[in-house]
Amino acid sequence: MITLTIDGQRVEAEEGQTILEAAKAAGIRIPTLCHLEGLSPRGSCRLCLVEVKNWNGKLVPACATPAQDGMEVVASSERLRNLRRMILELLFAERNHICAICPSNGHCELQDLACELGMDVVHFPYRFPGLKVDASHQRFVYDPNRCVLCGRCVRACSEVEGAMTLGFSGRGVYTLVEADLGGPWGASETCTGCGKCVQACPTGALVERGKATAEQEKRPQLVAEVTERRPRVQD
Ligand code: SF4
Ligand code: SF4
Ligand code: FES
Repeated sequence: MITLTIDGQRVEAEEGQTILEAAKAAGIRIPTLCHLEGLSPRGSCRLCLVEVKNWNGKLVPACATPAQDGMEVVASSERLRNLRRMILELLFAERNHICAICPSNGHCELQDLACELGMDVVHFPYRFPGLKVDASHQRFVYDPNRCVLCGRCVRACSEVEGAMTLGFSGRGVYTLVEADLGGPWGASETCTGCGKCVQACPTGALVERGKATAEQEKRPQLVAEVTERRPRVQD
């Protein structure tokens, strides 16, 4: 066991646990978006940034940084709140997150984070991209306009389902999730239609066809439930 402090609270953790896992076990909330229990850590959204006081205040992603003995972690401060809000604003400005017309309205992790962190205004110019919706799959729809590029769908598909259908194409703001390296999702020869990607998706980017907004509540915990019962494909 190792001992560290998080927001001044003494916390014990197992060697190899991340700061996020140690905080969670101690009942300390750190906001996350790309992280999902049951999937490998990605560290891509940066919402879980924390400050390590005795590393000269260095900012590290809690979900992808192992806790170390003697670490003094700050998980909640004005600086962190401002940074997290700015990250959210950039995500909202990058694509088209218009909650009022989104099928995930009321069941969206991005929306919940905006409320939690008090993001009531976006200080960056909206890009309003006109990205093509892929509604070719029999059961699911991918709307890249609502995608935050967290990669939870890609990891659920490869690490849990083992189909490796989904991947990223392009770079930066032009990145898209694609099935079978491109082409319509409905024509994919590898997709099993399991729906794990949809359940893992935190926003309205992946939804089930024919379901009303009130019925779109997802079960992201499904991923952890499945992985607890069997080792990940890559293991
Ligand atoms: S439905 Fe299953 S197999 Fe198809 S893309 Fe989603 S996770 Fe992969
Ligand atoms: S489709 Fe959903 S799960 Fe996949 S990268 Fe976009 S927001 Fe994340
Ligand atoms: S939740 Fe840690 S970087 Fe996204």
